[in-house]
Amino acid sequence: MLEKRLKRHVIGPEQEFFVVTAPALEHLCYRELMRVPLSCKEAYIVHGGIAFKGRLHECYVANLKLATANRILMRVAHFRAHTFHKLQKKIARIPWELYLTADCELSFRISSHQSRLYHKEAVAECFAKVLRERLDTYGAMSAEADAAPSKQQIFVRIVDNQFTVSLDSSGELLHKRGLKNYRAVAPVRETIAAAILQLAGYSETEPLIDPLCGSGTFSLEAAMMVKHIPSGWFREFAFMGWPGFSRRRWQHLRKTCGAEIRAMDKPQIFASDSDETMCGLLRQTVEKHNLADAVQVACKDFFQIAPRNLTAERGLVVLNPPFGLRLRGEFNHRDFLEAVYGHLQRFYSGWRLALMIPEKQCKTKAPFPGLTKYTLLHGGLKVALLTGTIP
Ligand SMILES: C[S@@+](CC[C@H](N)C(=O)[O-])C[C@H]1O[C@@H](n2cnc3c(N)ncnc32)[C@H](O)[C@@H]1O
Repeated sequence: MLEKRLKRHVIGPEQEFFVVTAPALEHLCYRELMRVPLSCKEAYIVHGGIAFKGRLHECYVANLKLATANRILMRVAHFRAHTFHKLQKKIARIPWELYLTADCELSFRISSHQSRLYHKEAVAECFAKVLRERLDTYGAMSAEADAAPSKQQIFVRIVDNQFTVSLDSSGELLHKRGLKNYRAVAPVRETIAAAILQLAGYSETEPLIDPLCGSGTFSLEAAMMVKHIPSGWFREFAFMGWPGFSRRRWQHLRKTCGAEIRAMDKPQIFASDSDETMCGLLRQTVEKHNLADAVQVACKDFFQIAPRNLTAERGLVVLNPPFGLRLRGEFNHRDFLEAVYGHLQRFYSGWRLALMIPEKQCKTKAPFPGLTKYTLLHGGLKVALLTGTIP
């Protein structure tokens, strides 16, 4: 009975999805979505993301492949409610057993603007109570009995008393690729690193030098790009705990993607940092995930590297210099940036540059003209990407 209802209401028909992106990355992510390719329909950009319609399979593909998406929500209901009484009734009408298993762990993310029901905790409590009652009555336990309960998040957005209820299909934010198991100081988010590589026009046929690599985010993203490894290849997703999840379809999708993964003749991505610990951790990650054919890691000072000693061809040099409070007193950021520019001018002629710096550091002018500037938001901080060719 549940099987039939799942097919009729969740698996068969198209669903509404919303891809959440960082501000300013909507267009890039849209481009990715169009390239995937997905048989999604009615895809359009709105502030903070992309809405599209598609079947559950499209949701699997989007989670697995979109490198610049933060998370993907599936819309479950839209309704109006001004009172808790009305809200309870509306929640009780949603067939939750088609979306969630009875044994899942639930959490709620509520936002409310210009609405009578503005008390977020009370709204969350109302959802939790009614939803649990419905799942206890109609819900099925998860098919994998010995697995840990799946963690599911419900997003509720209330604007002018209009509720939009969504289920988070991703789970952990998608910038968590499942590659690194260590923390770094000031790492760049993988979604931002992927965006920077795309904006700088990184192509899989050219060398990449990442000489202030830290935890190696740029190099790992580039390695996945050149080897055609989907960005979500090494992780799991919340949709895998949904009653409508088809393991058979998922495995087929992974098999198809797996067949496209390439082995490289020799590494064309050169990651280095002066921090030995970081280089050691990155090397371990690279080896563990079979990326050593794409990435070479070395512990070196940036100012000691000349690209001609690494590769005969020119390509992209990507830099995310140290900045922020942790370095206060150690050295002057402006002097460091000027030294970086000087070194680039001397040794990287003909290379393309992707330089990520806090917006305010743009006052230190690059000694070469014609760089394009993009403004991005990184963890609430305005950062600039300067990109172009070094003369
Ligand atoms: C902001 S962090 C880079 C973070 C990196 N993008 C990531 O995602 O983890 C800057 C890095 O520059 C490195 N660094 C600073 N001065 C350096 C130098 N002269 N040569 C090489 N690495 C240097 C630091 O060790 C640090 O790992």
